[in-house]
Amino acid sequence: PTSLTSYLALPRALLSVSRTNGVIEWLEDDVSADELQSVLAKHGHSSLGDYNQDLEVIELKFGEFLMPGFVDTHTHAPQFPNIGSGQQYELLDWLDNVTFPMEARFQDVKFARKAYSTVVRRIIDFGTTTCCYYGTLHLEATKALADIVKAYVSLQNTVELVSYIRSIAGNAVDGVSEEAPRISSSGTADRDLGRRLPLVQPVVTPRFAISCTSELLDGLGQLVKADPTLTIQTHISENESEIATTKSLFPAAILPPLPDGSPRTSPVTYADVYDAYGLLNEKTILAHAIHLEDEEVRLIKERNAGISHCPTSNFNLRSGFAKVGMLLDHGIKVGLGTDVSGGFSPSILNVIQNASICSKVVALNASSTTTSNAPPDSASQVLNGIPSEGLLKKDTFTNRQLSVPTLLYLSTMGGAEVCNLSTHIGSLTPGKSFDALLISVRSSSGNPGIWGADLDDNFGMGMRSSTSVDDGPDDKHEGGRSSPGKEKELEGILERFLFCGDDRNIRRVYVRGRMIGGKEFRG
Ligand code: GUN
Ligand code: FE
Repeated sequence: PTSLTSYLALPRALLSVSRTNGVIEWLEDDVSADELQSVLAKHGHSSLGDYNQDLEVIELKFGEFLMPGFVDTHTHAPQFPNIGSGQQYELLDWLDNVTFPMEARFQDVKFARKAYSTVVRRIIDFGTTTCCYYGTLHLEATKALADIVKAYVSLQNTVELVSYIRSIAGNAVDGVSEEAPRISSSGTADRDLGRRLPLVQPVVTPRFAISCTSELLDGLGQLVKADPTLTIQTHISENESEIATTKSLFPAAILPPLPDGSPRTSPVTYADVYDAYGLLNEKTILAHAIHLEDEEVRLIKERNAGISHCPTSNFNLRSGFAKVGMLLDHGIKVGLGTDVSGGFSPSILNVIQNASICSKVVALNASSTTTSNAPPDSASQVLNGIPSEGLLKKDTFTNRQLSVPTLLYLSTMGGAEVCNLSTHIGSLTPGKSFDALLISVRSSSGNPGIWGADLDDNFGMGMRSSTSVDDGPDDKHEGGRSSPGKEKELEGILERFLFCGDDRNIRRVYVRGRMIGGKEFRG
């Protein structure tokens, strides 16, 4: 992902990952087999003999590709045992009847350890390389969760040294590749990632305002004030009854005074509650954000808090349709969240699919109703309906369906931004951690839904050079000398993986250069 509306697909790239810290060292695009030696030499590897000593080379097969690992910005580890149950409820009844009884069982540390071991394993194998978890109130159980995450992510038996990745159609048609532009970049950002960024970080978690007293919120606000590096996560504006209850529990009179000392006056919004206690800042991750008032959208943007979009859960608990396009047009950070077990799938692929459907529902609704939350600038011109040229447009997102590049971005870079980790993760960029997925759409993956048995016959033959996929009317494909049909094929691979793929296609999951999960992982 290169932006909310574009990504680069590099069919013949050579990517180097440091064995010592798992950071992506360099990336060379469009390297032919003949050029392998010279490119390695350029980066200080003198010969193949040498490189057998200190390099491990992984060559991707036809129908395989690498992509950044998914970021799940919101899930509840103790709710995994409940996945799929309680379909009849909306949020508050679901919490009382389904969720709180299960979470109470995590008082038993043995139970917690057993449950969390399978939870973390599943999350990794579904391709999530960074995950923002909720635990329960129980300290020992939650420490066990942190230990298990750390153990799974920090394997000792490193097998990846430097990875040589040549993607699907390495030996493209003669006479084309030498004219294609080459991307070459090296990492400088973060050579001591491991030391500077702990694998597991604590998150200040007021579950939601309703479950907190004024004193508790105030105490958490003090904690954050004392250590501004702390990440904060909570729920906001998920369900109409929840919003009404929040407002009744936290009227203006109960909130701390404004920064200038003057008392608050009504009306108070849901976001005002968190803000009043110092819990709304650029480190805050707000889950759901479905029914935000215009004032709240402005405040969230002003504080630079991020939103975790949880469409699977929002459909499942009948909570509503978050207006993600509108949030993006306001410049608010957005990532995706599974919100298990409000959501019934631990897979970000499932969330991508539901985010797409959700955006289509929002677009359809906009054609019959007018909406509030007017975005700034040019976006407002599409507020009253679906424009005649279609749902997809490059410059605005409000009331339009999310495109494939946008969905890719939200599931990786967007999540990284929401977690304030975008300098370390979210894309396969030199200097960042090699947190990546090796995807196979080959028929041998066992998922016949993506590609048929004829894959090897007609897939990828024309792939060469870098392809920049950029939605919108002025589509351009940097360096793409291949026919438009073949480029569409490249886009098609990603699109079909995002919509038809599952864990069978996720062959390897890497975090910091180490394989820690996926179908080929034997841990
Ligand atoms: N609001 C407060 N707690 C929860 C929870 O566990 N799940 C969801 N979806 N919303 C919440
Ligand atoms: Fe949640």
